[in-house]
Amino acid sequence: MQILFTVVLALAFAISAEAKYMIGVNYGQLGDNLPSAKHAVSRIKSLRIGHVKIYDANSSILQALAGTKITVAVMITDQEISEIAASQRTADLWVKHNVSTYYPETRIRTILVGNEILSDPNQRQTWFQIVPAMEKIRSALLKYKLHPKIKVSTPLAMDVLQGSIFPPSNATFRDNVRELVMRPMLSYLQRTHSPLFIDAYPYFAWENDAKNVSLDFALFGSNNRGYTDSGNGLRYTNLLDVQLDAVFGAMADLGYDAVNITLSETGWPTRQDVDERGANIHNAALYNRRLVTKMLAKPPHGTPRRPARFIRTFIFALFNEDLKPGPTSERNWGLLYPIQNHNQSLPLVYPIDFTGRLPQSAYPPLPAPPPQPPVGSLHIWCVANPNASLPNLLAGLHYACAQSPSICAAIQPGQPCFNPNSTLSHASYAFNNYYVQFKVLGGSCSFSGGANLTFTDPSYGLCKYRPLVF
Ligand SMILES: *[C@@H]1O[C@H](CO)[C@@H](O)[C@H](O)[C@H]1NC(C)=O
Ligand SMILES: *[C@@H]1O[C@H](CO)[C@@H](O)[C@H](O)[C@H]1NC(C)=O
Ligand SMILES: *[C@@H]1O[C@H](CO)[C@@H](O)[C@H](O)[C@H]1NC(C)=O
Ligand SMILES: *[C@@H]1O[C@H](CO)[C@@H](O)[C@H](O)[C@H]1NC(C)=O
Ligand SMILES: *[C@@H]1O[C@H](CO)[C@@H](O)[C@H](O)[C@H]1NC(C)=O
Ligand SMILES: *[C@@H]1O[C@H](CO)[C@@H](O)[C@H](O)[C@H]1NC(C)=O
Ligand SMILES: *[C@@H]1O[C@H](CO)[C@@H](O)[C@H](O)[C@H]1NC(C)=O
Ligand SMILES: *[C@@H]1O[C@H](CO)[C@@H](O)[C@H](O)[C@H]1NC(C)=O
Repeated sequence: MQILFTVVLALAFAISAEAKYMIGVNYGQLGDNLPSAKHAVSRIKSLRIGHVKIYDANSSILQALAGTKITVAVMITDQEISEIAASQRTADLWVKHNVSTYYPETRIRTILVGNEILSDPNQRQTWFQIVPAMEKIRSALLKYKLHPKIKVSTPLAMDVLQGSIFPPSNATFRDNVRELVMRPMLSYLQRTHSPLFIDAYPYFAWENDAKNVSLDFALFGSNNRGYTDSGNGLRYTNLLDVQLDAVFGAMADLGYDAVNITLSETGWPTRQDVDERGANIHNAALYNRRLVTKMLAKPPHGTPRRPARFIRTFIFALFNEDLKPGPTSERNWGLLYPIQNHNQSLPLVYPIDFTGRLPQSAYPPLPAPPPQPPVGSLHIWCVANPNASLPNLLAGLHYACAQSPSICAAIQPGQPCFNPNSTLSHASYAFNNYYVQFKVLGGSCSFSGGANLTFTDPSYGLCKYRPLVF
């Protein structure tokens, strides 16, 4: 009897420890070819993914997750925040309709208030409503007796930090959010034992600084020199740890050392345009496989600044999402193709084990990465597509000119690029100028299909098109 009891206890412990040491995934739905929620959830289960984050409170998905052991993070959309921040009744209704209805059959564990709001200057008004909305949602959770199992947080992108992540010990939050948003948010998170949700992509940090940061360092490889923080002497073997410790550094700067981090988005894309770097199956497989092994290690690795601390991790993303705007890489972050093959349903883009137990050496060989021209060796321009419709070109032209006064200066009457006086010619000049100036900030040469990249210099006479040196 005694022995049996011990065995049962050990088993129960194994199962609960198991749930903690599982990987999460972001289930985005910006595709017109995605499977039903039921089908997706059964695939998530078969892959032994333990946590799902969604970008709303979609009822089909929450119903499909009912009765599973998968824990769920739901999201209040950006547009809903103001009203919730202003009204306890609205917060109550949101929790009643979107959480209580499904709980506890669906293991909702987190409510996220908006998505990367602090990255969007157009939503500046909303920045200051995030924490009030978090407080009201918490009150609603208490009212419906759902707290403390359900935490409230909001995902932030790395641009919540000011300047460089090197050295991470020197990182601070941006001046325009540090005191008025981050301090009250961290205070809330500490008080309620809730984690800060951070979206961190070594892919972008490397792509924007490929001269200084080695690909191997971004991919958790072992053929790089590593990096030593000049501020505190800590040694780094990979870029993700630098990013996470930069966030811990910025939190420490405000006196919040105890708050934990959840890595709410990270990943690596598998396809790219000619003006992108490193997005291929080879690199994506190495990144995500090694990520799983690292984040699920027992005991946990943590980071150099927070050793041995478990960091819950959600990979971006479950599916390739064909409706996402921007460069080709944007539509190719998925772990799964949203298609039905004759022999497999929702196939993996590359083999990957989500339990973290399969040694790297056990995987079949990967396709070699396609050759990549050396950094700085290509000159690329962005021009208007002569096949695009006039309204399409005009919309793009207005958008580009509105981003900064310098972009359309040369196409004004009397200036070197005014002639030929046509929408096509003016759009080309403006698209290129926008592209060269904004690519590093995430801008792309798409303009809803109105633009194309070219390796041929479009300059003529005194009208000079600046190249993107890539
Ligand atoms: C919820 O998700 C399902 C499954 O993908 C989708 O068909 C449906 O349109 C979504 N509902 C809303 C309101 O977005
Ligand atoms: C969540 O609840 C609100 C308020 O009841 C409702 O208007 C909204 O449609 C719900 N959102 C989703 C995604 O179900
Ligand atoms: C630390 O940050 C400050 C302000 O952001 C900057 O002036 C300084 O150069 C940084 N120190 C190092 C070692 O990078
Ligand atoms: C951070 O995580 C640890 C381990 O999971 C937990 O014991 C602690 O309470 C958390 N701290 C806060 C402030 O949430
Ligand atoms: C590399 O880092 C140095 C020193 O931080 C900086 O001056 C330089 O601009 C960086 N190079 C690139 C390509 O970003
Ligand atoms: C425009 O359309 C023609 C004919 O369909 C095609 O051959 C050409 O590649 C297109 N040009 C661009 C820039 O897309
Ligand atoms: C330039 O083209 C626009 C639109 O066709 C026309 O209204 C304008 O008069 C032209 N300007 C000159 C100086 O030719
Ligand atoms: C130009 O861009 C359009 C829309 O993105 C694309 O369909 C077309 O293939 C591109 N043409 C060339 C020549 O690259």
